[in-house]
Amino acid sequence: MKLVVLTGAGISAESGMSTFRDADGLWNNYRVEDVATPEGFLRDPQLVLDFYNDLHHSLQSLKPNYGHIGLAELEEFFDVRVITQNVDNLHEAAGSSNVLHLHGELTKYASVKNPDRAHDWPFGTDLHLGDKADDGSQIRPFIVWFGEAVPNIEKAAEWVRQADLFLVIGTSLAVYPAAGLLGYVADEVPIFLIDPKPVKSPYKHPVTVLQKGASEGMRELVGILKTKYLLNK
Ligand code: APR
Repeated sequence: MKLVVLTGAGISAESGMSTFRDADGLWNNYRVEDVATPEGFLRDPQLVLDFYNDLHHSLQSLKPNYGHIGLAELEEFFDVRVITQNVDNLHEAAGSSNVLHLHGELTKYASVKNPDRAHDWPFGTDLHLGDKADDGSQIRPFIVWFGEAVPNIEKAAEWVRQADLFLVIGTSLAVYPAAGLLGYVADEVPIFLIDPKPVKSPYKHPVTVLQKGASEGMRELVGILKTKYLLNK
């Protein structure tokens, strides 16, 4: 059975990564236009590099929580595909084998000329203004900024179309095209959603909501999935 999951910043909140739109979220302390758009990078590249260097540095010490770990453990029973809006590496650290990053990866860098070509960004190093990639252009974080294309969205939509079960964890569903992926879930497919706050799905498809944090919600969900789909196997 194919279990397809869409995750957002909330799944990493208990690991110490800030969300974007909660009261203490990143977008309350920074303006999206300044640090997450190509225009912002043109205007003040140092500010943008400082922002991502700081995030990269803090990521180094973070550990996955049971939200991530439970998804990796479910691979024993399901063909689990994780589509994440997150740029952290906590799904990989938890042991998930199929992770598709929609918005880039903080453990990689790219260049202004080739924003889609990723190079490994080792911990303990910073991205500097003036550093050039092998194509001769300024290096930049491997992050999909607002206004840029989302190259993995087609593959993500394909995974969603093939889902037998669909799960949403820790996303406000405020950002497209990611939120639009719910529209590709087939009619008969059950959707579960884990989030401590009420989240509005943009579609009519019924959703079973577990209004909990990621770890607690994942424990409950594993119980539900085992009872409903695995007991007779
Ligand atoms: N467990 C699960 N969910 C949580 C937790 C938790 N412990 N704490 C908070 N949340 C939920 C919030 O209630 C909210 O619904 O996580 C969600 C986070 O929403 P956003 O901050 O909007 O993050 P996200 O949906 O991932 O943002 C999408 O926006 O700025 C961009 O590129 C960025 O990928 C990001 C995209």
